[in-house]
Order: sequence, then C-alpha cells, then structure tokens
Amino acid sequence: MTEGVRTSSHLDPLGALRRTHACGAIDPGAIGREVVVAGWVHSRRDHGGLIFVDLRDRDGLVQIVFRPELAAEAHARAGDLRSEFVVIARGVVERRSPETVNPKLPTGEVEVAVHELRVLNTATPPPFAIEEDAGAEETVRLRHRLHDLRRPPAQRALRVRHALYQSARATLAEHGFLEIETPILAKATPEGARDFLVPSRLQPGEFYALPQSPQIMKQLLMIAGFDRYFQIARCFRDEDLRADRQLEFTQIDFEMSFVGVEEVLAVLEDLTVRAWRDTVGVDLPRPFPRLSYGEAMARYGSDKPDVRVLLELVDLTDVFRATEFRAFGAAVAKGGVVKCLPIHDGDALTRGEIDRLESFVKKELGAKGLAWVRVQADGTWQSPIAKFLSDAERAAIAARSGARPGSVLFFAADDFAKPNAILGRLRTDLGRQLGRVDDRAWAPLFVVEFPVFERGEDGKLTFMHMPFVAPVEEDLALFDTHPEAMRGTHYDVVMNGLELGSGSLRNHRSDVQRKIFEILGYAKAEMEERFGFMLNALDAGAPPHGGFAFGLDRMAMLLAGAESLRDVIAFPKTQRGQDPLMGAPSTVDAQQLDELRLRIAPAPKERTP
Ligand code: AMO
Ligand code: AMP
Repeated sequence: MTEGVRTSSHLDPLGALRRTHACGAIDPGAIGREVVVAGWVHSRRDHGGLIFVDLRDRDGLVQIVFRPELAAEAHARAGDLRSEFVVIARGVVERRSPETVNPKLPTGEVEVAVHELRVLNTATPPPFAIEEDAGAEETVRLRHRLHDLRRPPAQRALRVRHALYQSARATLAEHGFLEIETPILAKATPEGARDFLVPSRLQPGEFYALPQSPQIMKQLLMIAGFDRYFQIARCFRDEDLRADRQLEFTQIDFEMSFVGVEEVLAVLEDLTVRAWRDTVGVDLPRPFPRLSYGEAMARYGSDKPDVRVLLELVDLTDVFRATEFRAFGAAVAKGGVVKCLPIHDGDALTRGEIDRLESFVKKELGAKGLAWVRVQADGTWQSPIAKFLSDAERAAIAARSGARPGSVLFFAADDFAKPNAILGRLRTDLGRQLGRVDDRAWAPLFVVEFPVFERGEDGKLTFMHMPFVAPVEEDLALFDTHPEAMRGTHYDVVMNGLELGSGSLRNHRSDVQRKIFEILGYAKAEMEERFGFMLNALDAGAPPHGGFAFGLDRMAMLLAGAESLRDVIAFPKTQRGQDPLMGAPSTVDAQQLDELRLRIAPAPKERTP
C-alpha cells in the first residue's frame, strides 16, 4: 500500500474535533475564543430559527446556540437532538445579551455559537430528570443508577469521596505508613458479623471467607516487621442493612508498631482534621475532646453521642433500690438501671406528644413503658407514676434532674442497655425537635476506655469489640478475679453522633491472647483450630502494636451532607442487599454449581400452625 499513514481523524469517532474546555469552565474570559466542548444534551429549546442546547459534562452546563445563518448544517442536525444525546461542538464564545443572562448558571453570562456539530451517539430517553432533584423514588433511581449518577448530587458526592481518598493517602504516607494490599479471598475474621463465603472449585467442599476487615492480616504485617501499614480496604459483612451499614464497605485501615494509645490518637486526629480541610475546607478545632465509655453512657446513653444536643441523662438507679413501684424495683433488683431524661421548659411536649413517644419507644425500641412526670406551674407533679413514689424518691428525683415548674421528665427502667438506648434516642430526637442544640457544624470526639468484655443476653462474657483488643496493662491482674471490670485500650472516633471508626492496641503476647480466648469460652482445640496460626504468629516475635479503621463511606456521607451511605457509593446495595442495576444476586447455571460440587437445597417448608 502506498497511501501512507492515515491521520487519526479517520480512526476515531471524534473526527478532527478535540475538546478544549469543560462545559462548566467557560467564563467571560473566553469571550471571542474558539472552543470545542463535549457532553450530554441536557435540554433543547427551539426559538424560531434559533436552537438552544444546554450541554452538560461533569463540570457543569453551558448553553450552545445554533444559528442557521452561521452554520446551516449544524443547525439542521441540532433539530434532531434529544435529551442525553452525546455530542461534540466547535464554536465561538459570545457574551449573552443582558436579557438572556442566566444568573443561576456559573456559565450564565456566555454562550457558544456553534459552527460545527458532531453527534457522537443517540440516547434512550432518561427515566427521570437529570437535575438536583430527580423527582423519583430511591428504588427507581437505583434501578437506573447510571442516570442517577449523572445528577449533580451524585457527581458531588463521588468527588468528595475522591478527595477523601487522596487526603487520607497523603496523610498516612507522610506519617510513614506503607500501602499494602491484603487478600479478598481469605479466612474468617472475627468482627462479629456473618461471613460471606466463596466456594472453592479447586478444593471442593471448602470455602474462602471474604474479610470482614483486614484485622488479622494487618497484625501479621506488624509481626512481619513493616512497622506502619495502611490500606483503603474493602470489607464484607453479611448483616442487616441500615442507612449507615452496607454489605460491602470501605475502611481506611492502618496499623502501627511500638506505640501506645496516644500515638495512634495523634494520627487519627491528624487524618480527620486534614480530611475535613481537604474535602470541605473546614478546620476542625483541636485537640478533640475525650470522653470515657462510662461517661458517654451515663450522660448520653450512647457510646457515640452527638454532643451538640444539649440534653443529658441522669442515673436514678440507687434512688429506686427499695421502691414500692414494681416496674422500677424489678429492674433494679435484676441488676438493671433506672435513668431519667429531664427536659426543662417542656411546655411544647403536649400529652398527645408524650403518648406518641411512649408508643414509639415501645414499638420501635422494645421499651416496657415510658414513665413521665410533668411539673406544673404550681409545683405539683402530673404523672402516671406519682402515686407510686415516696416523698424521699420525689425529693431525690427533683434534686438530680433539676426539675422545676415546666419540666418534663422521662424515665426508663430495664437492664443496662435498654434505658440508655431509649432515652439516648429521645435525647437526640427531642433535642433537635425542640432546638436544644449548639450551633457547631461539626463535633468530633474520642471515646476511650471501653471495657474488654461485656455480658451477653445469656449472661456469658463476650468481647465488646473483637478478641484481639489489648487490656490496659494495669488491669491484667483482673483476669482471674473481675474480667468484666477490665478496661480495654479500645478507642472510637465519633463525629456528630456517628461512629466514624474504631481501633485499639492489640495483644502482642500469646499468653494474654490465650487467656482472652479462654474467657470467651473457646475450648483449647477450637482455639487452636480457629486461631492457631495467629497464636503461633504472636510467638514468632510480635512487637506491641495498635491501629484503627475509619469507615470511609461514613466519612464521605457526612462530608457530602448525604443521608445514606448509598448516596456516596457508586453502585450500592439496597436495603435487601440487592444491586438492582446489574441484578445481583442472581441464580447461576447448573454447570457452575456442578463444578463447585454444590446443590441448592429446597426452601425450608412453611411452618404449619
Ligand atoms: P469496626 O468493626 O468497628 O472495626 O469497623 C470500623 C469502622 O468501619 C465502619 N463500618 C461500616 N461501614 C459501613 N457498613 C458497615 N456494615 C460497616 N461496619 C463497620 C464503621 C466502623 O467504625 N478491625 C477493626 C478496626 C481496628 O480495630 O483496627 C474493625 O473493623 O465506621
Ligand atoms: P404500669 O404500672 O405498668 O401501668 O406503669 C405505669 C407507668 O410506668 C406507665 O406510664 C408506664 O409507661 C411506665 N412504665 C412501666 N414500666 C416501665 C419501665 N420499665 N420503664 C419506664 N417506664 C415504665
């Protein structure tokens, strides 16, 4: 062949046109310049001879205008444009006449007079408006996630997320952490959720577990001498989904050697402060306040309190040790607690509202009841429990709660967890509803000194976070006497009432680790079977180490001002664990099952009454 090399204009769909500007980046500075813009047809309006198109890319919208006298061919083609067609256009930037300026658009003072148009693709009509507000239910938006992602909120959210990755990487690299990946096809990791299993074809009948976190792997990396490791790690937990939980989610995970709690907290604070600065330009006040687990539960009924809400709980357990009121007395006798949420100047809480709250906490939070007192203007108590209270009990309640005319007091009595959960929830709901909040946009906080163990519903000791948390050195002597009183080295970062992440120092001595497994009730053989490799690793020369994992999706959700993790994940799962866009999960064909030597059991029979 003697034709010579063909120019690239014949080889690709753009022809000779190459983009010079992002749509959203065209400003009055470009007036008079020739530009090439590319994107999606956001809208088209025909005005007599003129055709106006809003062209959209990820940076914004610009108006392009087709005039028959300027470019007859482009004008003719523009008549066929429909929403979401993909085009590239060459033209000259002009100032709009004053009456056509659109102050709502950053590019609203200019438009591009088109000389050449190339239609790169047609498009099916979008299922909803590609606008700030799609005017469509989330289920519809997730089914059409592709179009949903074209909308400004999703574009913004994923940019915030991008900025967060970059910020975290930069901070951790500067602190000397090495980025190392760990396997996805792994063995069960003990974070307390259900595992996702992957059947092995090469080892039929055996399964990998997807990691609930890189916990064990990062500890092994410390023992292997990497000193400081980090990873933006995908984690998998088969648990019930909520607005702040997904089946697969992302952690900013790190671990460091030869450190105590303080050094880890310093990294956490630095990473959080820089993340907020790099993504939303906010300088968080330092140092972050610290709250012990005990104080957080006592005052807020939660280990992740939103401390901007100004209401606080008071503990009345000791007041009711010898009470006549059966409901409270029974809770105290069983080792439970009685707590009170006082709301002063509570006139806005009508009787109807109080009744509504009582049925809410009974139905949604499993409350046994919601006793209350309203202190009337003359100081008398209006209350369904007033008749059960002795004078001494009244006096103690009034003193502790600061009750005065206008106060409404709510009470909950049950085991330790319930009253805290119930009144903790009312605290934030009512605090926000009644405007009892301070005006800080962000309230970061460390919660520290969690116990190592807690009692499960069966009365047995279980771990509070995970079995590798190191107890505070001073408390090691309590192993044989009061294990439930042992303080752990666990810490959380909390922001605005959301747990952003957790971590701890780890057991680096196998004797301490074994002791913890024993208390958790593992028989020796089971311990070796499940954790033998970990115990052997600790015996291979493990340095003292500790670390942390931020929930990256939760951080992105807060930073993007989103309501749900789904808003900051490109392709999230629904509440039922489905991906409606791709249709996952789905059945597989018989051959695949055969290869894995798997058979699907019939659904369990409906139980007959
Ligand atoms: P933990 O289990 O507390 O700790 O997880 C750390 C953080 O990850 C986030 N997170 C989730 N985000 C979305 N969906 C979920 N289902 C989900 N589960 C957890 C939370 C949480 O604070 N290995 C330890 C960390 C360590 O000790 O280093 C761990 O995984 O923001
Ligand atoms: P009862 O004697 O069961 O009718 O209860 C009297 C009041 O106490 C009602 O307002 C109940 O809602 C409330 N109450 C009952 N049990 C509890 C409990 N465990 N905690 C808080 N309030 C309760």
